[in-house]
Amino acid sequence: METIISKIKKGQLNNEVIKKAGEILKSGGLVAFPTETVYGLGADALNEKAAQKIYAAKGRPSDNPLIVHITNMEALSRIVSDIPEEAYLAAEKYWPGPLTMIFRKSSIVPYGTTGGLDTVAVRMPSHETACAVIDAGGGYIAAPSANTSGRPSPTKAEHVEEDLGGRIDMIVDGGPVEIGVESTILDVSVTPPMILRPGAVTKEMLSELFGEVAVDTALFEEGSANPPKAPGMKYRHYAPKAKLCVVEGAEDEVVKEINRIASEKIQKGGRVGIIGTEETVGRYGQGVVKCIGTRQDEATVANRLYAVLREFDAENVDSILSESFSGNGIGNAVMNRLLKAAGHHVIHV
Ligand code: TXA
Ligand code: MG
Repeated sequence: METIISKIKKGQLNNEVIKKAGEILKSGGLVAFPTETVYGLGADALNEKAAQKIYAAKGRPSDNPLIVHITNMEALSRIVSDIPEEAYLAAEKYWPGPLTMIFRKSSIVPYGTTGGLDTVAVRMPSHETACAVIDAGGGYIAAPSANTSGRPSPTKAEHVEEDLGGRIDMIVDGGPVEIGVESTILDVSVTPPMILRPGAVTKEMLSELFGEVAVDTALFEEGSANPPKAPGMKYRHYAPKAKLCVVEGAEDEVVKEINRIASEKIQKGGRVGIIGTEETVGRYGQGVVKCIGTRQDEATVANRLYAVLREFDAENVDSILSESFSGNGIGNAVMNRLLKAAGHHVIHV
């Protein structure tokens, strides 16, 4: 299949492009589009056959449910059977934005979209192009990240083309995304609400809204007895081809250890990638060194994380050594994705 690729400049919605995307979605096709978090691969969420095409294009396990994207609260009331008080509070404050909430589904949402579950994940994105595509496509668009299953999520249209070019009908290219890690997932069908995936809407922000917020304990553990509650979080994904190891500890010690391991591997003929920061990159003597952002503002690290992992794939390194991050604020989402990409391979110094 030939994939149509159409560019849209920020603040200049192109009606022809949006119209085309809407037509494809309404007739059961697949359209990738930018959101503020990562690029999504869209299909009509209420058309079971269309949603199934997403699984085929991504190579996604069929038990991994999709997020339904909407643009208004009326749409929410049609696809869920109950809207708890906490959901109104969170929606008021963080919708549209990088927050997904889990509700009990209504009968119009097919099981093919929810991976057989009686709950449905819903997100109202803030990205102008995303909203236009959702509305043009009928208002209920299932959209997982637009990567091949197992690869890092796409933060640019080029990443989508790399993974899915020739397998989907259209890519709407809106340039690089703002945030760079996927939305926070909050299950509001349980009390207290529980975070199933950390993102830009942090635990601190949600705690301020309703006091108590639980966190799925399986998220930061390796081989936890209980599988993560978001089915997608159990797969080793976000992963580059090379083996990734995270080095944790005080900054100077971390730099020393990464230099030591890198030189050992290079002497043995290895090709080593290093993930450093503005504060440290000058201190790495060998290997393929990439700056992922500044420690002063871990949102910059979130923004570059997936692109850096993909760049290392292109450089053909066989191992990657990464510094670790605070775990506070959006740093929590960064560490969750980084540890998963590393298969929880961590060295403490
Ligand atoms: O930022 C995002 O959320 C992006 C953009 C495109 O909106 N989408 C995204 O979708 O990250 P995806 O499919 O890559 O991740 C969806 C996650 C998976 O881990 C899935 O298991 C979980 O949401 N999920 C979906 N429905 C669920 C449900 N009913 N219960 C628990 N987890 C659910
Ligand atoms: Mg994904």
